Amino acid sequence: ELNFGCPHGMSERGMGSAMGQVPDYTCMVTEWVKEATSLPVIVKLTPNVTSITPPARAAVKGGADALSLINTINSIMGVDLETLVPHPNVNGLAAHGGYCGPAVKPIALNMVSELARDSEVNIPISGIGGISTWRDATEFLLLGATTVQVCTAVMHYGYRIVEDLIDGLSNYLDDKGFTSVRDIIGLSVPRVTDWGNLDLNYHTVARIDHAKCIQCNLCHIACEDGAHQCIDFTTINGKRFPIVDEPECVGCNLCYLVCPSPGCISMVRLDEGNQPLTWRELMARA
Ligand SMILES: Cc1cc2nc3c(=O)[nH]c(=O)nc-3n(C[C@H](O)[C@H](O)[C@H](O)COP(=O)(O)O)c2cc1C
Ligand code: SF4
Ligand code: SF4
Repeated sequence: ELNFGCPHGMSERGMGSAMGQVPDYTCMVTEWVKEATSLPVIVKLTPNVTSITPPARAAVKGGADALSLINTINSIMGVDLETLVPHPNVNGLAAHGGYCGPAVKPIALNMVSELARDSEVNIPISGIGGISTWRDATEFLLLGATTVQVCTAVMHYGYRIVEDLIDGLSNYLDDKGFTSVRDIIGLSVPRVTDWGNLDLNYHTVARIDHAKCIQCNLCHIACEDGAHQCIDFTTINGKRFPIVDEPECVGCNLCYLVCPSPGCISMVRLDEGNQPLTWRELMARA
């Protein structure tokens, strides 16, 4: 595996992400390594790029047998408010480190799925980034990873968690009636598309089940200050409850996300009888 993703220490010396950020270098060095070995060559990509596609295609062009992603993300963790020194630091002087663990999983899933959808990337993909449970691993497989790798979680809990991942995945496969892990690879990839292909006429609104409402008002505050000011109040049996002004609701989900009472707010689809219409179709008509 060629580490074209290390974001600090190596990149400053022309290695690591300095390779993965320049597609021409990615291709050239992959070619060199392929010439020098008969071993399978995996190119490990950096997420510190605007688009993961050019370096991935460059690795394919250079003859890579597989891709792995993601390596860590340039980051400063915070600042000590007493000493004013940022973390991480060496003897009081900070330089960016590499962010990893659960917070990077959504970024990694997106990049893996982008490559799984790319017809020019027709080699296996090893998914990495924030995997700590069998569910995480399964999500990577469903979005097109053919293998997965775990770093932070093993550093934290030890190699024993790999057994938990295997047990959980195995139970999931049994429950769903799959006979092999290969059967689930990429099953969710067709469910990912570009924004321009989404149905503009798909309309949902928030609906509140007052029997489950604890009157905390979090939904009202969220909609009032962060969304579309469309949660009003109504009085039921002398108590004040929030109610959604549905014609004004844009279905942004914010109230649903902040509500602490399970099942209290549902996002409900409104069937307005409109045919599906995507942005691409709309522009084609214009
Ligand atoms: C302390 C530490 C050291 C790492 N060293 C390497 C390394 O030498 N080579 C490499 O390709 N990736 C290295 N990584 C990146 C991981 O392999 C992995 O790509 C990244 O941490 C994301 O996965 P995770 O969320 O499971 O940790 C390192 C990560 C950490 C946290
Ligand atoms: S879905 Fe968004 S716009 Fe609709 S009520 Fe909730 S917060 Fe307001
Ligand atoms: S956030 Fe949920 S529980 Fe709280 S007032 Fe709104 S609907 Fe009721």
